[in-house]
Amino acid sequence: MELPNYKDVFKKDKIKTKKFELDPNYKLKYSGKKYFLKTYGCQMNEHDSENIKALLEEMGFTEVEEYKDADLVLLNTCSVRENAHNKAFGMLGRFKHLKEEKKDLVIGLCGCMAQEEGVIKEIKEKYKFVNFIFGTHNIADLPEILDRAINEGKQEIDVKTFSDEIIENIPVRRVSNFKAYVNIIYGCDKFCTYCIVPYTRGREHSRKKEDILREVEALASDGYKEVTLLGQNVNAYGHDLYNDYSFGELLEDVAKTGIPRVRFTTSHPWNFTDKMIDTIAKYPNIMPSIHLPLQSGSDKVLKSMGRRYTKESYLKLFDKMKSKITNCHISTDIIVGFPGETEEDFQETLDVVNHCNYDNAYTFIYSPRENTPAAKFKNQVDEKTKEERLQILNKLVNKYFLENNKKEEGQTLEVLVEGKNEKIDGYYGYSKEMKLVNFTGKNIKIGDLVNVKITKAKTWSLDGNAN
Ligand code: 5AD
Ligand code: SF4
Repeated sequence: MELPNYKDVFKKDKIKTKKFELDPNYKLKYSGKKYFLKTYGCQMNEHDSENIKALLEEMGFTEVEEYKDADLVLLNTCSVRENAHNKAFGMLGRFKHLKEEKKDLVIGLCGCMAQEEGVIKEIKEKYKFVNFIFGTHNIADLPEILDRAINEGKQEIDVKTFSDEIIENIPVRRVSNFKAYVNIIYGCDKFCTYCIVPYTRGREHSRKKEDILREVEALASDGYKEVTLLGQNVNAYGHDLYNDYSFGELLEDVAKTGIPRVRFTTSHPWNFTDKMIDTIAKYPNIMPSIHLPLQSGSDKVLKSMGRRYTKESYLKLFDKMKSKITNCHISTDIIVGFPGETEEDFQETLDVVNHCNYDNAYTFIYSPRENTPAAKFKNQVDEKTKEERLQILNKLVNKYFLENNKKEEGQTLEVLVEGKNEKIDGYYGYSKEMKLVNFTGKNIKIGDLVNVKITKAKTWSLDGNAN
């Protein structure tokens, strides 16, 4: 049993890469058993779930849609805001009820919440019906942990706060056969004062470029149309491995594989280099849609968040991207109600939104997180003020979404078809600019790239026709 320990959060060591191997005996043991997996949080978690599903399936389990039908239920959790945290605990409550009827039900928890000391303490004390827990650094150990929990019949908790290993070749069952996530860097060293991610995902560890490029090439030759390069901060790629190879170079090498669409997320505005901008501008298969979290427009708040940029430097970067990258679309994340945020500070955020008229924005109320510096700041903003600011901000960003979408009316956009839209007897998909497009058309196949003429703009989507 290894428990999360925040003392190890700042530890850093040279990374070893290891290859994954699975004990073939599990398949005989667990064949015919059913599992249910629920995922909360970001794309990183969604992609981890693709590994978790493949591991369980290689152990002999098959997936079911309803948790009530499962022999094993597992939650892949998120800690980023209290909301996600509460949802996971709510779901554990439902699993508890099910276990009262189904005594052999095996209940597991993994993901970011598993890395929190407070969560583990609470589960050990009050959620004794949870059978096993593993963390974000030891997904590859799932088969052994699960097997131990079942055989030994006691709560099995195995969470590492520090890891100096990257395990390659963990099996993956991708949700889509035309778009794929590819991890390039794990963890985050920025320690923004509001953010729990450095505690739950550990220090920055880049994957070797050869491993990344091999994965992208294999996806391209399997007919995948789109890859999204994933990292908590992709800009930091390579600094722990190479002297002269960073994210700009990697992006260029990925573009050169010829895969039709390359995306990446997330970028920190602090070290977004000219090389990155020039590469995005140069390669038509790097999508002109960039996520550039602002968080706040006030220099005072940015400083207290530990963001390492100012309103002025953010706007300078934003304007440079817009001028150098053709058809550049930018989305953002904004937090309102950070400790100490005054009306004037909030107004500065609105000023930036008015300048940037974003194509998309994820807006959040500040949520204090365990062990983060900002949770201990004295000048917390009251809930009512936070709610009011969120509403004002949402109204403003929505106005710009619609205005920007209206500019697409009459244009033809290339859309990657993701699925059917039964309501309109048509389809939906995303354009290069990351616009959600609902459209009708004949002879359309899911996974195709099709040209869609935009007929109507809405706030969060576009309507169109493909013929
Ligand atoms: N409270 C509110 N929002 C947060 N985010 C991260 N931590 C918090 C927090 N404690 C938001 C940031 C980040 C996005 C993924 O979630 O805007 O960019
Ligand atoms: Fe949530 Fe952050 Fe963990 Fe993603 S990395 S699941 S956003 S806490």
